[in-house]
Amino acid sequence: MNYQGYRGRVLHFLDEQTPQYFADGLLITDTDAGTVVGCGDAATMLAQYPGLSVTQYDNALIMPGFIDTHIHYPQVDVIASYGEQLLDWLNNYTFPTEVNFANADVANNAAEFFLQELLKNGTTTALVFGTVHKSAVDAFFEISQRLNTRMICGKVMMNRHAPEALCDTVESSVADTQELIDRWHNNGRQLYAITPRFAITSTPEQLAAAGQLLADNPGVYMQTHLAENLDEIAFVKELFPERKSYLDVYDHYGLLGERSVFAHCVHLDAEDYQRMSETGSKISFCPTSNLFLGSGLFQLDDQPFPVDVSVATDVGGGTSFSMLQTMNEAYKICQLKGSKLAPQRAFYMMTLGNAKALSVDDKIGNFESGKEADFVVLDLAGTDLMKRRQSICKTLDETLFSLMILGDDRAVRETFVAGRSVWTKPEAC
Ligand code: GUN
Ligand code: ZN
Repeated sequence: MNYQGYRGRVLHFLDEQTPQYFADGLLITDTDAGTVVGCGDAATMLAQYPGLSVTQYDNALIMPGFIDTHIHYPQVDVIASYGEQLLDWLNNYTFPTEVNFANADVANNAAEFFLQELLKNGTTTALVFGTVHKSAVDAFFEISQRLNTRMICGKVMMNRHAPEALCDTVESSVADTQELIDRWHNNGRQLYAITPRFAITSTPEQLAAAGQLLADNPGVYMQTHLAENLDEIAFVKELFPERKSYLDVYDHYGLLGERSVFAHCVHLDAEDYQRMSETGSKISFCPTSNLFLGSGLFQLDDQPFPVDVSVATDVGGGTSFSMLQTMNEAYKICQLKGSKLAPQRAFYMMTLGNAKALSVDDKIGNFESGKEADFVVLDLAGTDLMKRRQSICKTLDETLFSLMILGDDRAVRETFVAGRSVWTKPEAC
């Protein structure tokens, strides 16, 4: 045992309605085990652990690491590409970039940069798209394994409506996916997601094969895109005229379920919501992407049937790695849709809410004793403007709200993975 204390403001959630906040708090970790020992009021905890080695953080908020439920690692080189909506953006920018990931050096370089960028932004777990190339997913997992980050990733399955160099076949996609599952799922902290890109780029036979892989591999995830853009939806209707809706395509091939995460869902109807709800399927709301690609405004509240909604960056359709900036844009979308995204709800969603959506809340998402010690130290004075605004905040809600509206990677002082520091903001060294 090698206990270490981290003292500052501490916030985490026991469930959506139950925040625990300690204005002078202490988080204690077991650095050898990489787990949380406990958290609480600093004076009380220090009395229980006399002689504990403690790192003090001033003007800082210690929280569980952020979780991003939808992001593309190869798209670090696509982010901020001008002028197109989804289908043209894919054809003009995304597919030509992803072709390069056949090259191991390209994949290694992008995966390394991508994972560092996540950590710099306080994100310690993500559900990640690779490319169609098996080797590019190996590259990603190898680097994540080295960093000991808990990541979920998958090889894209796509066999039509894309450049030939990016197309696999039903047989090769099944063989590659199964090989990657066998190698990486539950290997250390790594987890696998079966990844049909979307209904447009897979034949019915490939979607059926993806459904079979999901049935054959209990505990493995499924990630895809759903109802993001109106032209996309019209194309799906042309390709699958016999299906009731876009969601029904995935449903028909056995792709719905509690470990299935559908990115976007901007344009679903009540029947789709009912089916998502019945099957325990999850939505990933991607605010910066939906605005950047002009896809539409997601309805966070007043759903016709209850479905778990997580929140995600969707880099490179999304424009920031920061979950704080993602919540900034989520708040504005809610304003336009007539609802309010309360700050504590936003911080719940980034942490325990997203952990629940990914069925990893038994391992991460809050500071319950025994959980994996992934956490972030947020700098409440990360910029001059944040410092000035924070100095007049009177309540926790005011502090959290200005943090999520004004904060980005400059608001991350230090990031810890399984109890070890993996990122420190340069000025704080
Ligand atoms: N739909 C299919 N592929 C993609 C992608 O790479 N990004 C987004 N935003 N939507 C998609
Ligand atoms: Zn996406």
